[in-house]
Amino acid sequence: MRRIIISIDGHSSTGKSTVAKQMAAELGYAYIDSGAMYRSVTLYAKEQGLIKENILQKEALLKALPEIKINFSWDKGVNKTLLNGRDVSELIRSMEISESVSLVATLPEVRAKMVEIQRSFGVKGGVVMDGRDIGSVVFPEAELKLFMTASAEVRAQRRYAELLASGQEVSYQAVLDNLQSRDTMDSQRAVSPLIVPEGAIIIDNSEMNPSDQFNMILQLAKDRIYRRV
Ligand code: DC
Repeated sequence: MRRIIISIDGHSSTGKSTVAKQMAAELGYAYIDSGAMYRSVTLYAKEQGLIKENILQKEALLKALPEIKINFSWDKGVNKTLLNGRDVSELIRSMEISESVSLVATLPEVRAKMVEIQRSFGVKGGVVMDGRDIGSVVFPEAELKLFMTASAEVRAQRRYAELLASGQEVSYQAVLDNLQSRDTMDSQRAVSPLIVPEGAIIIDNSEMNPSDQFNMILQLAKDRIYRRV
């Protein structure tokens, strides 16, 4: 049975990672969260004092790039992001990182390094990867490309509930503002902007139930695995 590449791009907080993890588990594929990689570089920059008051010392970060090693581990079904061997899975989800990540994700040198690592994960197929440029830049040849979207209000409400559940004190308005400014930065940046990749299937899940969405995507994947389309 052939092992395909599935790219899942789209707006922030559209449930890309949830469905990507479910698909990977169902098919026995690897799941790669490319956003976690940009978040990890941002955390590194913060911890090294290279981002202050939302200003990034670009040259210093580029110099430090070879020191940054990002890996993933799968431990009893739980996905972990490792930054230089340290588990940073939770740290990279904070609002503080979300607010600065666009500074890092707009740098072409950082993107080139991330894309190289991402492609190395896909050489044997059998990968589900989510992000913003996976179907357009990282794997334009992916057998199944999805582009997920939903209204900004629905997405902010979902993210707000997640942050509250993880004990972070934030307002709904701050979450909505952050999400909308990331949408703008993601879509308007010069390098690898968020676009609907050629050949991608657009899924607006504002009013879609998660299990219907999963079954639909699984069917799309099976059609390609068994070459029915
Ligand atoms: O998916 P996420 O919210 O964890 O991604 C964090 C940020 O990283 C997001 O604001 C955009 C950026 N990103 C990117 O530029 N390219 C990717 N392939 C994935 C994420």
